[in-house]
Amino acid sequence: MSSSKQATKPGIPNHVGIVMDGNGRWAKSQGKVRLEGHKKGADVARQVVRWAQKLGIRHISLYAFSTENWDRPKLEVRALMGLLAMMLPKTLPEMKENGVRFRVLGDISPLPAKARKAVEQACAETCDNSAIDLILCLNYGGQQEIVAGVQQTVKWLESQSDSEKALAELTPETFRSMLWRHDMAPVDLLIRTGGECRISNFHLWDAAYAELYFSDLFWPDFTENDLQIAVEDYAARERRFGKTSEQVCR
Ligand code: IPE
Ligand code: IPE
Ligand code: MG
Repeated sequence: MSSSKQATKPGIPNHVGIVMDGNGRWAKSQGKVRLEGHKKGADVARQVVRWAQKLGIRHISLYAFSTENWDRPKLEVRALMGLLAMMLPKTLPEMKENGVRFRVLGDISPLPAKARKAVEQACAETCDNSAIDLILCLNYGGQQEIVAGVQQTVKWLESQSDSEKALAELTPETFRSMLWRHDMAPVDLLIRTGGECRISNFHLWDAAYAELYFSDLFWPDFTENDLQIAVEDYAARERRFGKTSEQVCR
């Protein structure tokens, strides 16, 4: 049986993170209102999990709402939250059927009650699934995650008998264990659609060695074939993690 904890096939990224950008511009190009773009984008988000699963990807994280997205017009924020509250329960049976474990990355406490409850329900009802992890990044910001990690680290240091020594010996691995992502797989491939070549506060810690892939397509136009092309591009890369090519090819 396949499991999100099992080893991934060679050349297949274990964890793919996606900045699903371009919904608004897609809508504009079709003469539609932005919400129509978000609706179409949500439908592609639902499908991309299945496509990822078919490719053998074990973890997929989707950037659905950033900490900065609260600054959008109130009506758009409300519409996005409404879409989440509506889409999640609708998608739940399919997630259960396909063995998807739904998880969340970000602080969901400020979300409207309906959206928050839908998220909590999806997490609770899929927590024993193991075919693929779907990590929805909601009210997520990489900087906010790192600040929360620092706060956690300070608390941990205070609990140590020799906190000065513990601080001096703090490693990136120990610090990562203080982050929201502590029990999530590191990101291997970070895809951004919509033509912008930036990270926009996504997965900052794991961006250190994630492979970056930028697509000019608007998210609602992204297809199964486009995911396959991104994964093929990833497979052709050499991940050296600071070493020489000769060292990693051995
Ligand atoms: C991404 O699409 C969806 C969210 C940020 C919620 P955008 O809404 O940013 O689309 P563009 O960038 O305006 O085209
Ligand atoms: C990033 O897209 C956030 C999500 C896709 C949820 P944005 O459209 O918010 O990013 P910027 O503002 O162009 O950097
Ligand atoms: Mg955008």
